[in-house]
Amino acid sequence: MAQIIDGKAISAQIKDELKEEVSGMRERGIELCLAVIQVGADPASSVYVRNKKKACEYIGIKSLSYELPEETTQEELLGIIRELNGRKDVNGILVQLPLPKGLNEEVILDAIDPLKDVDGFHPVNVGNLSIGRPGFVSCTPAGVIQLLKRSGIEIAGKECVVVGRSNIVGKPMSMLLLRENGTVTTAHSRTKNLQEVTKRADILVAAVGKPRMITADYVKEGAVVIDVGIHRNAENKLCGDVDFESVAPKCSAITPVPGGVGPMTIAMLMKNCVESYSLQNK
Ligand code: GUN
Repeated sequence: MAQIIDGKAISAQIKDELKEEVSGMRERGIELCLAVIQVGADPASSVYVRNKKKACEYIGIKSLSYELPEETTQEELLGIIRELNGRKDVNGILVQLPLPKGLNEEVILDAIDPLKDVDGFHPVNVGNLSIGRPGFVSCTPAGVIQLLKRSGIEIAGKECVVVGRSNIVGKPMSMLLLRENGTVTTAHSRTKNLQEVTKRADILVAAVGKPRMITADYVKEGAVVIDVGIHRNAENKLCGDVDFESVAPKCSAITPVPGGVGPMTIAMLMKNCVESYSLQNK
């Protein structure tokens, strides 16, 4: 039976390490602060934002909360971001996505100072990742790397296949695996013979956004399978992009949904907040 990679335990461990680090920083007179902006009241976003603020509180990072009405204009939001960019006491700025219609996500995200972009979405940070310079890395793919490393799974020299090419997960995931010296293939909806491609993988990352699409037929015997998807099925139960029941018996290690990649995103956001201080004070 496959090793079940416990994202809940690994994220808790990371948060405890960060809590210790933040407490050491506080003794040196350093106080960290994350600004969290939510526009509108999308219920899923409200849950994420609440969890991010709770994680800040646990670790000892101050959080500034901006809960803005649905009707907020682009200029108003840009005004707040500019003010936060200029504030010395604010280390991180996070605008929860998706934004309501009428707000241009690209313009808003581009307005965040790259040195405060703890989500790692700004083009400067995306560029830095691709050329191996220091910067913020998108939290979910960074969390996948931590899951692999902390589970003792070697990446260097391995065949890695990422299914999905989104800006937030698939592309940075491929860049990170490459940075770890994996041999990386990015597959997507237009990939021909997808099963042949995914069956080459020693490490298979599913970030397709289709419930239980990756069945045993897509997986090589003994592969490591990482499931980034999260969906609710007809019975309101959570499931991933991977058909866990058929895939788990075939692989050497696998992440469950829930309790795999999910909890890592916030842990890595917190890590980015802690690292922001040194990036800003080089
Ligand atoms: N919405 C869904 N995931 C994310 C995330 O990682 N960051 C932000 N800002 N919004 C999101």
